[in-house]
Amino acid sequence: MDVRWITFTSPPERRGVLIPIEASRDVPFEIKRVYAVVRPDPGLARGAHAHRALTQVMVALAGRCDVRLDDGETQVVVALDDPARGLLLEPMVWHEMTGFSTDCVLLVLAADHYDEADYIRDRQEFLKAARSSK
Ligand code: TYD
Repeated sequence: MDVRWITFTSPPERRGVLIPIEASRDVPFEIKRVYAVVRPDPGLARGAHAHRALTQVMVALAGRCDVRLDDGETQVVVALDDPARGLLLEPMVWHEMTGFSTDCVLLVLAADHYDEADYIRDRQEFLKAARSSK
């Protein structure tokens, strides 16, 4: 499956790294929700679901983690470890985050408000839906 990264353009700054992220410019949607996952338990996994319609961009503002992406046919594991690079998470992609560093802070920009009905949390249901949509 394709992995789509978005590189954010940082202005030259001597005082630290500044990363502007503008809706519809740096990410391909109007941002309706922002959430952060702050120092998740390094021994546990997060995610393990897909969204029916939601598009998101995930950025490791600090630290790192691995993200397994799976479109129902192929899987890929990528490292999220650069605050200047966002991972585009499209609808109907099963994703699971593991390997968190103890300092990990994930920022997630979402195209819509929280809606539990948009989640597919059951793996078999996801595989069935992903295969029938191809
Ligand atoms: P979930 O998306 O399953 O977390 P993760 O993918 O990091 O494992 O969400 C965990 C809980 O938090 C779940 O009960 C739903 C709730 N939640 C909200 O209320 N609002 C939100 O914006 C998000 C992302 C989750």
